[in-house]
Amino acid sequence: MIKSNKDTAAMNTLWLIIVFILQSSVKAKPSCKLYGTSYRTMVCKPGDSNYVLQRGLVSDNNSTSKIILRGCRISEVDLESFENLPSLKHLDLSQNKIQQLKLGALDEALNVTHLNLSSNLLTGFPLGLFDQKPNLITLDLNGNLINSLELGIFDPLKKLRSLYLSANLLVGKDLSPFLFDESPHIRLLDFSGNDMSKSPDNLLHAFQSLETLNLSRCLLTEVPKFATTPNLKTIKNLTLSINQIHNIDNAAIFLNLHNLEKLDLAQNNLEFIHENVFSSLKKLKGIVLRSNRLKVISNNLFKNVPKLVNIDLSHNLLTYFGVDGLKGTSLKNLNLSDNRLTFLQENFCLELKNAGVTLVKFLFIPNPWHCACLNELLREVKSMNIVYNSAYFDGKRPVCVATDKFVCDRN
Ligand SMILES: *[C@@H]1O[C@H](CO)[C@@H](O)[C@H](O)[C@H]1NC(C)=O
Ligand SMILES: *[C@@H]1O[C@H](CO)[C@@H](O)[C@H](O)[C@H]1NC(C)=O
Ligand SMILES: *[C@@H]1O[C@H](CO)[C@@H](O)[C@H](O)[C@H]1NC(C)=O
Ligand SMILES: *[C@@H]1O[C@H](CO)[C@@H](O)[C@H](O)[C@H]1NC(C)=O
Ligand SMILES: *[C@@H]1O[C@H](CO)[C@@H](O)[C@H](O)[C@H]1NC(C)=O
Ligand SMILES: *[C@@H]1O[C@H](CO)[C@@H](O)[C@H](O)[C@H]1NC(C)=O
Ligand SMILES: *[C@@H]1O[C@H](CO)[C@@H](O)[C@H](O)[C@H]1NC(C)=O
Repeated sequence: MIKSNKDTAAMNTLWLIIVFILQSSVKAKPSCKLYGTSYRTMVCKPGDSNYVLQRGLVSDNNSTSKIILRGCRISEVDLESFENLPSLKHLDLSQNKIQQLKLGALDEALNVTHLNLSSNLLTGFPLGLFDQKPNLITLDLNGNLINSLELGIFDPLKKLRSLYLSANLLVGKDLSPFLFDESPHIRLLDFSGNDMSKSPDNLLHAFQSLETLNLSRCLLTEVPKFATTPNLKTIKNLTLSINQIHNIDNAAIFLNLHNLEKLDLAQNNLEFIHENVFSSLKKLKGIVLRSNRLKVISNNLFKNVPKLVNIDLSHNLLTYFGVDGLKGTSLKNLNLSDNRLTFLQENFCLELKNAGVTLVKFLFIPNPWHCACLNELLREVKSMNIVYNSAYFDGKRPVCVATDKFVCDRN
């Protein structure tokens, strides 16, 4: 008797568990909750299956200012899903499975300033999709399958400042140069991870205030003309890393970019850079030439680039690097790691200092240093309190090549 009572109780508990599991396993809808001061941020968690976003989940609230539907397994967005959200400013629909957005799907919530559609399966947009988004400032479309952008699609976005298009299937040569004619005040444009080779030279002609342009992983074989036109004199950040640029032999290629502060040319195949290409860049603070095939650097390449503070030349094939080439810069951080250097000129750091350049950080390991030459350099950086890659000197790996010389032989 007692035993059977126990059994019944156990059965009941089991049933409860089963019912609970069943209930939660058919929870197809994402569940949403309000957070934050005065509960203005709505954060949703995914349900157990794909979901067609409909009116009622996040819509109809006068006070919601931010909706986060990230990774909620949304496959489609019905019309009116964002009805009656007058305070909405931030809408995050990233990491879902949206393949297309119907015309009108984004027509509500006129006040949205930040829209994140990154990491979906979008291939393009119907013309007019953004017509009701006049206040949009940031549009993130990274990581989709966008293969074309129809002329006029961005026209309503007169306030757009940041446009992320990284990692899509865009082909620059098929893009219209009039695509951005109505959004001339974009400050950040990210085209990285698209094929931007052979793009028209006037592709970016509409911009008047562009500051950051990212052309990393764009299959470029030369510094593209479309990135250096006179109207782009406002650019501060130009990223050209991870391309196939072999040489920069046009001395005038950066002539228009008076305001450039950071130039990233890492991971190209650079073997040659014309000695005058940087001479017009009076505001350049940092240059990244990491992971190229540079064997020699002309003495004039960096000379008299007055604001230059950081130079990264690591992972190249340099056998020589002279003090002269750094005169007239403001260099503080120099990275010569992983080159073919066996020695530097005598009193390298001191000579630099005498020339008005005071190094703060100098990375020069690994290189095939001759031990006597490395010792001289180490004595210098230590006595001048320059930070170097001291962690390398752990006795576990060779830092120099022993020769029979006790003093550095520079011949
Ligand atoms: C709207 O949001 C407020 C918090 O800001 C919440 O108290 C209220 O229940 C929400 N109304 C609806 C209809 O969801
Ligand atoms: C939102 O505000 C409008 C006008 O003030 C009002 O008619 C409506 O009922 C409100 N909606 C909600 C869900 O609070
Ligand atoms: C947009 O926000 C402003 C206040 O910032 C408000 O007055 C206006 O009604 C909102 N517009 C819409 C369409 O909800
Ligand atoms: C968009 O969302 C992703 C996360 O899914 C985030 O990493 C990214 O920073 C967001 N974009 C913007 C512009 O905030
Ligand atoms: C440029 O794009 C690459 C690849 O998408 C990214 O890793 C990098 O952070 C971006 N750089 C800048 C300066 O935005
Ligand atoms: C350049 O881009 C980097 C990475 O996005 C950012 O941290 C930096 O502030 C930008 N610099 C300028 C001058 O815009
Ligand atoms: C110097 O170069 C090494 C190797 O490329 C890199 O890991 C490191 O981040 C660089 N350091 C600086 C300060 O640029």
